[in-house]
Amino acid sequence: MNDTAQQDRVLIFDTTLRDGEQSPGATMTHDEKLEIAGMLDEMGVDIIEAGFPIASEGDFRAVSEIAKNAKNSRICGLARANFADIDRCWEAVKHAEKNRIHTFIGTSELHRAIPNLTMDEMADKIHETVSHARNLCENVQWSPMDATRTEWDYLCRVIEIAIKAGATTINIPDTVGYTAPVESADLIKRLIETVPGADEVIFATHCHNDLGMATANSLAAVEGGARQIECTINGLGERAGNTALEEVVMALKVRNDIMPWHTGIDTRKLMQISRRVATVSGFPVQFNKAIVGKNAFAHESGIHQDGMLKNKETFEIMRPEDVGLSGTSLPLGKHSGRAALRDKLEHLGFEVGDNQLKDVFVRFKDLADRKKEVLDDDLIALMRVGGDDENDALKLVSMKVVCGTGGQAEATVEMEIDGKDISATAFGDGPVDATFKAIRDLHPNQARLQLYQVHAVTEGMDAQATVSVRVEEDGMVVTGQSADTDTVVSSAKAYINALNRLVVRRAKMGEGVDAKEISYRDVT
Ligand code: KIV
Ligand code: ZN
Repeated sequence: MNDTAQQDRVLIFDTTLRDGEQSPGATMTHDEKLEIAGMLDEMGVDIIEAGFPIASEGDFRAVSEIAKNAKNSRICGLARANFADIDRCWEAVKHAEKNRIHTFIGTSELHRAIPNLTMDEMADKIHETVSHARNLCENVQWSPMDATRTEWDYLCRVIEIAIKAGATTINIPDTVGYTAPVESADLIKRLIETVPGADEVIFATHCHNDLGMATANSLAAVEGGARQIECTINGLGERAGNTALEEVVMALKVRNDIMPWHTGIDTRKLMQISRRVATVSGFPVQFNKAIVGKNAFAHESGIHQDGMLKNKETFEIMRPEDVGLSGTSLPLGKHSGRAALRDKLEHLGFEVGDNQLKDVFVRFKDLADRKKEVLDDDLIALMRVGGDDENDALKLVSMKVVCGTGGQAEATVEMEIDGKDISATAFGDGPVDATFKAIRDLHPNQARLQLYQVHAVTEGMDAQATVSVRVEEDGMVVTGQSADTDTVVSSAKAYINALNRLVVRRAKMGEGVDAKEISYRDVT
């Protein structure tokens, strides 16, 4: 069952759960991966790259389960150029009605040097491994990693070998985000014209965003003949990330006059999935991010507002509703009931079950007691950070902080750790420093603080602060988040949230799960 190459249809291949999740600190839990995969499937993504099955037990289980649950999308797993990787990948994706093995090897001179293979040796390896994959699965994607820096003749040669060995999709990765749009279009066009058999396969484009050109490069590749774009929600990915799904999809929709190709994506679901990916990955969306940023449809300046009131098209090239944004709506307050809260959350793109609504309602009431008006952004923050989990090993019970000019800050923190209440007092350079030190006294750990970020959710003195804290311990990187009207309380909760995630990861390592995590770049 292969994808048909319709000339006016561009397949969307989402790799949020593989290339996106690989980004340091963006690790998602098993349930979060399943949830995101379900959303991608529902919104019309053609192919979901669900993970890298040999990397860890966790990845294998996630890809297998996503494959079992898939309704419409083709489920793909990544495998390096060896039989063990490919077999493991097949074991995971075989459960899906539509599946794919994606195997790759770095073909540029720099990448060939890592496994120390000559050009001929690598060519043989490509033939063997793609043939092996094709014997297992009728839908095989092959990628020459770092294709855009691979010698032209060699690139043509290895693509021809992969096609002859049975690859059905040839993906051309711009692994380091080096290419410019004219080159991207030209490369795909020339490959299709030159490589024997190219007209029998689909060409894909996979662009990284190191120079901020990933979206432009992907669209240019389509111009050159590619009919599959590889991308991630919010452009999540290593370094500067991957092509953002929402950007290419909306560009093809809004500028269909000059780019006459369409995708199967229900664009009204973009906002909702963007928010969910931001939450579970711990990577907030920048305010001015195209399509899904908080300010993407906000008009502040007087001239813009005046123009918008007279005719929306003066400053808006797409309707907010087309990406799943509701129009402005009235804020909620402490007298608002459950039905109003549910209605508002649905408007914002969150579908909440009865149990979740119960939990959110309690937190909403708590917030409404402290804040006169609960605005849309407050509710989004409430949904993004989630509440306390009763299974958490570490819980904040209370805290008191004294700080000011002339002298050190003092924080007394009381926590429930493994069911026992304990407290500690610590001093620091400021209230956050003192609080984190007290928490560390209560739960000694070696975790190094990599990132501490505070955002005001709305304007005003009573605004909530969302805090993100990223910590690293023995190579494990986790992110914790929280929102509160008190910045120091929010910081403490975010730090504890990150430490809870570390506790879970450490426990899994103890069970042997994920203990043999390997990077897909360790090419064997
Ligand atoms: O960027 C890259 O080259 C990749 C490959 C594994 C396709 O992600
Ligand atoms: Zn990549």
